[in-house]
Amino acid sequence: MTNDERDARTETTWQTLRRGLALSPELRTGLAATLGLALVYMVGRVAVPVAVQQGIDRGIVGGLNLDVVWSVVAVTAAILVVTTACGYLMMRRLFTVSETALANVRTRAFRHVHDLSMLHQQSERRGSLVSRVTSDVDQITQFLQWGGVILLVNLGQLVVTTAVMLAYSWQLTLVVLVAFLPAVLVIRQLQRRLGAAYATVRQRTGTLLGAVGESVVGAPVIRAYGIAGRTARRLDDAIDNQRLAQQRAIRISIVGSSVGELAAGLALAGVVVLGVTLGVDGTLSIGQLTAFLFLVTLFIQPVQIATEVLNEAQNAIAGWRRVLDVLDVAPDVADPGEQGRDLPAGPLDIRFAGVRFAYPGGPPVLHDIDLEIPAKSRVAVVGETGSGKTTFAKLLTRLMDPSAGAVLLSGVPLAQVRFDSLRSRVVMVPQDGFLFDATVGDNVRFARP
Ligand SMILES: Nc1ncnc2c1ncn2[C@@H]1O[C@H](COP(=O)(O)OP(=O)(O)OP(=O)(O)O)[C@@H](O)[C@H]1O
Ligand SMILES: [Mg+2]
Repeated sequence: MTNDERDARTETTWQTLRRGLALSPELRTGLAATLGLALVYMVGRVAVPVAVQQGIDRGIVGGLNLDVVWSVVAVTAAILVVTTACGYLMMRRLFTVSETALANVRTRAFRHVHDLSMLHQQSERRGSLVSRVTSDVDQITQFLQWGGVILLVNLGQLVVTTAVMLAYSWQLTLVVLVAFLPAVLVIRQLQRRLGAAYATVRQRTGTLLGAVGESVVGAPVIRAYGIAGRTARRLDDAIDNQRLAQQRAIRISIVGSSVGELAAGLALAGVVVLGVTLGVDGTLSIGQLTAFLFLVTLFIQPVQIATEVLNEAQNAIAGWRRVLDVLDVAPDVADPGEQGRDLPAGPLDIRFAGVRFAYPGGPPVLHDIDLEIPAKSRVAVVGETGSGKTTFAKLLTRLMDPSAGAVLLSGVPLAQVRFDSLRSRVVMVPQDGFLFDATVGDNVRFARP
């Protein structure tokens, strides 16, 4: 099963979030303080309509009282200063923490990709693998910085606003909630479809980046064989597929925001009609109705923003899942690390004991190889194309492990040798070279500067 196929499996948003948070404990750094700041920020925003109500009902209606008006203005100004300061600090903390955590995820994912054996790197399109550590991680960053923060603040604001609205008038609060209930249900349904749509988007973005990378890296080959036309068509297909997936996801999210928009209009209209009726009855004062209208906007805003953010979240979650899936693949050729042994000093002799090897899903390439090569001897392995010479060399340098049998260097099984020791003593010079983006001299010195 390749990772792209595994993307299709169903894992809930919460499961992915939990898996992601477990891998990035840094995200919880100072969370209590940040939430404290968020709380002050939200309560502050809701305090403004309350101050306005006090100002109108006690300072204006039934005789102008400038003392009351001025003190309300002063209190409101003070609240605004504190609220703004808390909002700034909260955002700054959240941005710093999420940047740090994601830099770590990216580093870990890069390292892990290098730990995966050549087998894995070949069985999965390399470009797709690269997209997991670049564009997918970027998508998570964007969400955590912008969306995650705003979602948190807005959900809090929703709760606080509802509480204050209830304190003013349960009837009007009921109108608002009833207006939004169908929208919430519809949006919940849409979120599920959106999750699947964005999983496809992330997967096709990976394929697209893979195709782009291949056509750039393989440019000389493409030109040499005159297959520019076919390559361009493949690239066009990848671009088209990605665009179609993206359009589908965006169409779903637009339906969501329109439904939210409709609910907002209904809520506001309902509050004005019922509010005026209650005002005429004397149940509600002018100040209270004014405050309530302010509160409804404070309620609508987070609902609308949250819908938008949730859409963004589905994209990020799909990306996060792909990154986590890479990290979940256990390296099949593992470094024994601290428990491993060092190779004995001096020239090494080589022994293959009953070694068998087959590439995944392929026929056996090496059949029961038994051989000994004494230290200090020079041996050429000759054979026709595809007979398994490179495979033999890869097993000798432990780029892959044999399916059966063992490779021993001076009596030490390769699986027990620490990578540090192995890589500094035994190397393979591949037949197809790779030039790093540096001078020829630097390339020659690359492994040992
Ligand atoms: N990554 C791979 N996945 C699947 N099969 C592979 C892979 N690499 C090699 N093979 C198969 O294993 C067999 C041995 O390949 P290998 O590259 O070891 O041959 P070779 O002797 O080095 O050939 P050449 O002389 O062309 O370099 C071939 O049949 C080849 O098709
Ligand atoms: Mg070869």
